[in-house]
Amino acid sequence: MFRLRQAATETPSLSQIGVVTLAVLLALAIYVVSVTVERFGDAPLFMLAVPLGLTAIAYGLTGGIAMGLLASTLAAAWWAEQGYPGGLAWLSSRAVTCLLIGAVLGWFADSRHALGRAIASHRELSLDMIATASFDGYFVEVNPAFTRTLGFTAEELVSRPFIDFVHPDDQEPTLAAVVEQTEEGRDVFNFQNRYRTKDGSYRWLEWTSRPDPEGRALIAVARDVTDRKRLEELEHEYQNRLEQAVRERTKELNRRNAELEEARQETMRRLALAAEYRDDETFEHTARVGHTAALLAAALGFSESEVQVIRDAAPLHDIGKLAVSDTVLLKPGKLTREEVEHMRRHAATGATILSGSSSGVLQVAEEIAQGHHEWWDGNGYPGGLRGDHIPLRARIVALADVFDALTHKRPYKPAWPVEEAVAEIRRLRGLQFDPDVVDAFEQLDPYELAGVERMSDRSAAIADDRAVA
Ligand SMILES: [Fe+2]
Ligand SMILES: [Fe+2]
Repeated sequence: MFRLRQAATETPSLSQIGVVTLAVLLALAIYVVSVTVERFGDAPLFMLAVPLGLTAIAYGLTGGIAMGLLASTLAAAWWAEQGYPGGLAWLSSRAVTCLLIGAVLGWFADSRHALGRAIASHRELSLDMIATASFDGYFVEVNPAFTRTLGFTAEELVSRPFIDFVHPDDQEPTLAAVVEQTEEGRDVFNFQNRYRTKDGSYRWLEWTSRPDPEGRALIAVARDVTDRKRLEELEHEYQNRLEQAVRERTKELNRRNAELEEARQETMRRLALAAEYRDDETFEHTARVGHTAALLAAALGFSESEVQVIRDAAPLHDIGKLAVSDTVLLKPGKLTREEVEHMRRHAATGATILSGSSSGVLQVAEEIAQGHHEWWDGNGYPGGLRGDHIPLRARIVALADVFDALTHKRPYKPAWPVEEAVAEIRRLRGLQFDPDVVDAFEQLDPYELAGVERMSDRSAAIADDRAVA
């Protein structure tokens, strides 16, 4: 343990021998005074408590008892010199008192020395750094753990302001922590800074410190947490790399998902196109049915994702027409009964083509293909289902499909005017079509659905053209 600055600022203590010599001389002087100045009686003998205390502090129990014996002897000499006043009772009471005082003070002194040695051992053996620092910024006392950790000797550490050892980036917060204690009297817990070592590198220290009870010094304990900090930094770095990798992988995954989704949608469009290719001159029927079905679904309160599924699935409603022969499909005139039966098989065939898929869109497409020719009143095909027994999405596509077929030219029929097609839809309300779906249809703009201009809009446009000409 080193106490260099403390030794410089406090009164030096006398050695044990010096103390004992002083105590003996003092006891003899007290005796001489007591025998030469008779008018004070035995009062000066009470002053023997002073050399008793000094000896007990210097030599503990042994010193206290030895000085107690000397004091008893001097008291006995005074007693004999004075003609035995008070008899043996006087002498024995003084002797016992002197011995008791010496023994008790000596025992206290021994206990204190033992405590001091124990504390010193703890400080010396501690793996943590323990220091006392003055308010003017110097270490007063450091334990050997400082040297083991930083490499500097205790003399080097106490010879310069401790802030000189602190990493430049940590000096400002370190001084703030010191001010917090020296000026505000507050404790500081788990404060971290970097301390320079003998080889010029830095180590992270974690401090807990507080002003001593007298407010004259700082009591501080520090722990080397460099390894922990490195682990934390590694963990932080690893975490950052991991997050970066996850971000990149997620971005890549999203890109691939978008590509897959695009490929899926294109495949479905092309599949739908294949089904309608032979009887749809513009090839846009499938897309329009998907669009109209989506608007109807939205008007009926479907969620955004459900609307999207219908938009994707509806164009496949006639996929079963792949199995219908050209002679039947493209026949301009009336179909024979067998041909009608052949034609009607496209609904069940379409459902079979689409069945067994794990894709939600294809499962809905199967449901639509199967049910889009069912009638609300039960007169449809292939199941002759009635009302709510027909899946709602099939009921929606049924209307969208018929309206689009009516408003567009087919090999076997011309395009109907929008007004007539709307009237036909209304006429079939409750017969072929679900009344609720027809009501939803009424909320939409049939001209927009059919992709044609209103007569009034067309007249206004022609008038505008004439005005310009
Ligand atoms: Fe169909
Ligand atoms: Fe169709």
